[in-house]
Amino acid sequence: MFYEPKKKNHGLPKNPFNSLIIPRPIGWISSRDEQGIHNLAPYSFFNAVSYSPPTVMFSGGVGSAADGMKDSVRNIETTGEFVCNLATWDTREKMNKSSQTVSADVDEITLSELTAISSELVGAPRIQEAPVHLECRYLKSVDIPGWTEADAYRVIFGEVIGIHIDDDFITDEGLVDVAKMLVIGRLGYNDYARVDSDSLFTMNRPG
Ligand SMILES: Cc1cc2nc3c(=O)[nH]c(=O)nc-3n(C[C@H](O)[C@H](O)[C@H](O)COP(=O)(O)O)c2cc1C
Repeated sequence: MFYEPKKKNHGLPKNPFNSLIIPRPIGWISSRDEQGIHNLAPYSFFNAVSYSPPTVMFSGGVGSAADGMKDSVRNIETTGEFVCNLATWDTREKMNKSSQTVSADVDEITLSELTAISSELVGAPRIQEAPVHLECRYLKSVDIPGWTEADAYRVIFGEVIGIHIDDDFITDEGLVDVAKMLVIGRLGYNDYARVDSDSLFTMNRPG
């Protein structure tokens, strides 16, 4: 089949786009507002974009937010800091719960029955239950225009200035044991994938 997204002529019951860019890593973003209220939300329009310095991005829907801006985006632009926590099989339900749309004055870490712990280099909290935390300093925002105002997105870029890895997930050989972490990724619709010892395989690059 072939379709043109703008014409919405895929003829399928649901937009297939999110099922084609998969699996997407989930940036489970913790931040705080100027009053210090904690915020937490998952973003699967998320990725790493460079190594040196390590840089990550996530993209927040402007039109889908209650007041035209996701709380995570507003907090990060205001305070200049955030943390990306790694979502895993063990925290999947709480990760999902943290995607609830609630008013900005609600502490979403407490709401999701998770534990906030302080970071080393930024004021934004980390999620104790996550095995990896990337402490980030805000770099810049880029607006992605939508077909309508409601379709617009704002991309936040951040430099990773501190990285925590739970020592339980480092092998005797010094490798990160992602199969043990049971990391989850987002597929299309409401589907997810899990990295485990059955799904993981290794290929050496040629040359
Ligand atoms: C797995 C998952 C991935 C999501 N990815 C995104 C995303 O990339 N961009 C977005 O705007 N919303 C995304 N959402 C929805 C947000 O998490 C939700 O709107 C949340 O309430 C935003 O919270 P905030 O306003 O506290 O930042 C996702 C939800 C889930 C469950």
